[in-house]
Amino acid sequence: MTQAELFTEPDLIELAPSILSADFAHLADQIERATAGGGSVIHVDVMDGHFVPNITIGPPVVKSLRQATRLPLDCHLMIENADRYIADFAEAGADWISVHQEACRHLNRTLNLIKSHECRAGVVINPATPVETLSEVLEIVDYVLVMSVNPGFGGQKFIPGAKHKIRKLAEIRAGRGYSYRIEVDGGIALDTVAEVVRAGAEILVAGNAVFGKGDAKSNAAALLDEARSASLQKV
Ligand code: DX5
Ligand code: ZN
Repeated sequence: MTQAELFTEPDLIELAPSILSADFAHLADQIERATAGGGSVIHVDVMDGHFVPNITIGPPVVKSLRQATRLPLDCHLMIENADRYIADFAEAGADWISVHQEACRHLNRTLNLIKSHECRAGVVINPATPVETLSEVLEIVDYVLVMSVNPGFGGQKFIPGAKHKIRKLAEIRAGRGYSYRIEVDGGIALDTVAEVVRAGAEILVAGNAVFGKGDAKSNAAALLDEARSASLQKV
């Protein structure tokens, strides 16, 4: 299925392994294992030490990842002044770029800038940010990312309030005929994945649950199994 087709299949469940919890000295191997387990989007967490209290990676690493996988690279920018860096990420090989509502003073402009680089444009909300703040941009985004932890670190505990926001986004999409996909990020593991899928999440980011311990292939496969059975239980 092509990327364009994927975005017209909002119900398709996908696992997006987050490399934040991977062994950075063996990124290509780790991505290969997670892909073998069914991961179909690679989630890349970009942190600047200002918007969030941690620093991770930038465009040079994305450029190397581009050589290591054919899967879409989903770059989650947890940075201030995103406009300054969007071209760099796009040129490095990002396919999807998401920015935080809380970090963008001119959100509409930033989302259109992402699209002008032929990337899928996503908007992200922190646990304390209501869905209503996105009302004016939902029509133009390709995906909405609901944070289910406060961004900055992997391995944190899932915040249940994310579920009602996912539900609301699914209702708004159906009611207004929009086509964005719904992604969730933070604390997604075997004990939380079913509830977010039942709420309406379609793209499931998981770092610790895939790369934390054991084998990334079997971890990814188990998570996807759980997610797909929950999806079948949806009415
Ligand atoms: C947190 C990041 C997440 C992180 C999720 O700020 O945005 O993508 O990797 O990690 P887990 O799945 O371990 O909660
Ligand atoms: Zn993330």
